Amino acid sequence: MKKLIIHLLAALTIIGCNENENITENEILPVPRSINLTSRKFIFSQGTAITINAPEKDKEILNEVIQVSMPKSNSRYENSLTLQIVENIEGITSPEGYNATIDKESITIKGTSSAGLFYGLQTLIQMTDKDGNIPTGTITDEPEFTYRGMMLDVSRHFFGKEFIKKQIDAMARFKMNRLHLHLTDAAGWRIEIKRYPRLTQFAAWRKPAEWKDWWFGKRMYVEEGTEDAYGGYYTQEDICEIVAYAESRHITIIPEIEMPAHSEEVLTAYPELSCTHEPYKQADFCVGNEKSFEFLENVLTEIFELFPSEYIHIGGDEAGKMSWGSCPLCQKRMKEESLAGTEELQSYFIKRIEKFANSRGRQIIGWDEILEGGLAPNATVMSWRGTEGGIAAAAKGHKAIMVPGGYCYLDSYQDAPLTQPMAFGPYLPLEKVYSYNPTAGLEEEQAKMIYGIQGNLWTEYIPEEEFVEYMLYPRMLAIAEIGWSNPTERNYNKFKKRAITAVDKLRSDGYNAFDLKNEQGERGESLTPAKHLAIGKKVTYATGAEYNSKYNAGGDTALVDGVRGGWTYIDRKWQGFIKRGGVDVTIDLGEKQKIKSIEAEFMQMPIPEVWLPAEVVISISDNNADFTEIARIVHKVTDENFSLKTYSWQGRCNARYVRYRAKQGAKGGWLFTDEIIIK
Ligand code: ACM
Repeated sequence: MKKLIIHLLAALTIIGCNENENITENEILPVPRSINLTSRKFIFSQGTAITINAPEKDKEILNEVIQVSMPKSNSRYENSLTLQIVENIEGITSPEGYNATIDKESITIKGTSSAGLFYGLQTLIQMTDKDGNIPTGTITDEPEFTYRGMMLDVSRHFFGKEFIKKQIDAMARFKMNRLHLHLTDAAGWRIEIKRYPRLTQFAAWRKPAEWKDWWFGKRMYVEEGTEDAYGGYYTQEDICEIVAYAESRHITIIPEIEMPAHSEEVLTAYPELSCTHEPYKQADFCVGNEKSFEFLENVLTEIFELFPSEYIHIGGDEAGKMSWGSCPLCQKRMKEESLAGTEELQSYFIKRIEKFANSRGRQIIGWDEILEGGLAPNATVMSWRGTEGGIAAAAKGHKAIMVPGGYCYLDSYQDAPLTQPMAFGPYLPLEKVYSYNPTAGLEEEQAKMIYGIQGNLWTEYIPEEEFVEYMLYPRMLAIAEIGWSNPTERNYNKFKKRAITAVDKLRSDGYNAFDLKNEQGERGESLTPAKHLAIGKKVTYATGAEYNSKYNAGGDTALVDGVRGGWTYIDRKWQGFIKRGGVDVTIDLGEKQKIKSIEAEFMQMPIPEVWLPAEVVISISDNNADFTEIARIVHKVTDENFSLKTYSWQGRCNARYVRYRAKQGAKGGWLFTDEIIIK
């Protein structure tokens, strides 16, 4: 009996301890800045009295979010949940910040704006278990960056308004606040402009449906209603619905209207706006023609009416500028405006569009090419070709939004490419996205100009909605956390745990998120050094078969350093060859050696024109002059998938010199290899 009492007391003590235990881990994503929780619980139930003290227009949505998204206990506990707008919150400067105090009887979320209350509520929802239990404690939280964005390309493939709303819901869950829609591009114009109906009656439709078949085919547009026409557009009513839906979830829609380039569809519908006036020939507007400005200002006037966003994206990237050099009107413009070249002509164009936007109370965002030829006075730069553009803009006192392709372009493989659907960009796993720091290396003054971060999803190779979600999540969660959380709190292993929980929830809510739990990760061969006879030996590259300096993998020793490549040719472990001589190297083993195998692996990734060799020849010599061929391996490229292939010889021989040659096939392009392994 005495023993039983001791056991009971011990059990009670444990229960008692649990009641007040501090919780050190949480599953909130993005991780809050300051959080103290205990295992004591508030129970959200049928009996919880809800009070919302916020502007009328926000009350309804806040209440709806509570009713729809917070799991509830079926019991009736008399307790309270209060959302309250206050003048200020200690320790918080952002209007998006909030403070939550949770005890057993009451929860109070305070914010200085409805956005703060909305984000406090998102945190609360993530803390609530399926039975309505919420750990007690306090949270004080605010974002690191003002701009926390996601970009979706709806031109290359079109995605309807309900799908956009579904993604807005996911963004809101993770406190993201800007949705940039890439509405126009060669592949299709996607927004109704009343003044120019051909943009949607014609330039929004094409055959065939998949971008790659269209782009590598004839690139024709067709009339709306044509049999099998692929495409679509948002009516102005759809846009109003999307904008209002996003606004109620504190998300601003940033429309992008591409100019002066990426405009083949416009210039086929309205060929008089290009330098040559020929449909299907030009991608760039004629900058010498006043009609181009008239058209674009009319389009932007309708855009400004539809989108309340202060910031409007005007593209600005990748202008070929080819026709400008020979166009009489462009030449005349350059002369009249004393412009030194076509870069300055582009700068003239952007400055003029900015002036128009500013006169209507709007600011422009442009891709980092808008720096070339002189940046428009008030423009914000979206830095995609690395970070340099953003850093240069910040140094000039301009705002910059960081979207460097190597971290933020989510149309790249997120796991071992051999296990994934075809992707545009090389391996970009969640961990790499998460490792990005938008203000790294910047002085304090420049860091202040970094407006935020964005994840971009281009959809050339992403024709289906399910696939869009697969590429977005969970990598967009890493963007969300970089955008919101304290950089000093960043810890990938902890983040990954939270992301797995978030992915499970997304999947159970009908999002086709990548199954992070089963991620394979980096290529095993790249994680442990290879051991073989040629390690550290001298490698001679034949003239005309030198490696490319950008993809040098460490230089002359790269192919015998024991370092194997990972899933991407840009990981500085693969050596790249673009010259017609292909790969032609001779390895000096220092003395005659017994050899039983010689091999090298190559990568194929067709989109950036990385191909497997069409032929490999392996030879040996004792004197570096007379070589005996021991293997000739021919390969016919028959597929366009990512692949790795080992070209090897096995047998018995004695030699001091090994020559390894690999030749490109008819497609030309790059050869990438990581190591020549001799055993
Ligand atoms: C871009 O990726 N061309 C902005």
